[in-house]
Amino acid sequence: MISAGPLILRPPVADDAESMVKMCDDPVTARFMPLLPQPYGRGDALAYLRGVPVRWEEGGAQYAITAGGRMSGLVWLGPPDRWGTAEAGYLVAPWARGGGVAATAVRALTDWAFDQGVRRVELQVEVENVASLRAAYRAGFCEEGRRREARRLRDGRPADYVLLARLRGEAAPAVEPYLPLLADGELSDGVVRLVPMAPGDAADYQRMMAEPSVAAYSVTPPVSLEDAERRCRYTGYWWLSGQRAELAVKDAGSGAFAGHIQLTQVIPPLGQAMIGYSLVPAFRGRGFMTRSVRLLVDWAFAHTALHRIVAGTDVDNSASHAVLERSGFQREGVQRELLPQPDGTRADDLQWVRLRPAGVPVP
Ligand SMILES: CC(C)(COP(=O)(O)OP(=O)(O)OC[C@H]1O[C@@H](n2cnc3c(N)ncnc32)[C@H](O)[C@@H]1OP(=O)(O)O)[C@@H](O)C(=O)NCCC(=O)NCCS
Repeated sequence: MISAGPLILRPPVADDAESMVKMCDDPVTARFMPLLPQPYGRGDALAYLRGVPVRWEEGGAQYAITAGGRMSGLVWLGPPDRWGTAEAGYLVAPWARGGGVAATAVRALTDWAFDQGVRRVELQVEVENVASLRAAYRAGFCEEGRRREARRLRDGRPADYVLLARLRGEAAPAVEPYLPLLADGELSDGVVRLVPMAPGDAADYQRMMAEPSVAAYSVTPPVSLEDAERRCRYTGYWWLSGQRAELAVKDAGSGAFAGHIQLTQVIPPLGQAMIGYSLVPAFRGRGFMTRSVRLLVDWAFAHTALHRIVAGTDVDNSASHAVLERSGFQREGVQRELLPQPDGTRADDLQWVRLRPAGVPVP
């Protein structure tokens, strides 16, 4: 048994079969645990439970997570390899989610594993599994990289994974995201809604970025639909890892995709990030982007430690200059010949900044 705050980890027993069925016959479990049978029945639970002693004999560990005697989930560790590296995994029952169970359990199991001589515990989390990434950062796991198309989902689609690890003897503070997730899942002023980019936005985004008036001010080549979809699947991971916030601008009335706005180049030690945006031509001229920039900048100063939000525009892009001026940005300078142009020349970049307003405390 492992005691972990309010949780007790104990080996699974035959009586857990019923809870196992309820826990595994669930859409979130089915989505993120593609190797589990679906639908998941009593026979599947009993087969798993019969296999538990074998997994222990092979050098792994299997624990039921319980709270007040009720099963809350499972947490496990594969057998360590010859270098002392073992891979952990977890599954929290639908009725126990959202209370930090996974983080507490995997932290305790990892500490226990280090006491048994394991040197390194790894986690692999699909880039779209925001809840699991949140749990991993909270359990003190440190991100090491991405494993592109490392595994396949139930429908055969390859998926990218984030590799995280904890090392024995290393401090493992719970990491709170530099860019917190949006409390209501979106930002809105009643006219525009800013919603984190999702795979359903990929086609609209790709079409907009290929539009000549948008492509003219982009320093990267137009993206393929496949790249746009991949980008949209990364939203949660980029956000939680503090790399960037990517949002679709939606017309609040119709729900239509109107554009894209982002915070990128996040530099926590400087408290600086860059804002960037584009609108679909049909939605221009209505103040949509000014509203969007204000919403995002106000959110950033209220909920992050950012002090400087910068922007860079082509010196001739007067529509963008107007958006920034109306949103309280000031001109800061010109970076000469920063922007590569399609014809091989380079254009100057006008730099803008909006500083944290006096009196808005750092959260
Ligand atoms: C992943 C899982 C184990 C997390 O367990 P948990 O104990 O509920 O985790 P937490 O309590 O830390 O909650 C997850 C966090 O993600 C957030 N979250 C969950 N789903 C989210 C979503 N779709 N979008 C944004 N945030 C989400 C929750 O609000 C919570 O954040 P908060 O504590 O800041 O409010 C659980 O969701 C689960 O069993 N999923 C299916 C199996 C699985 O994915 N296993 C891991 C494979 S790597």
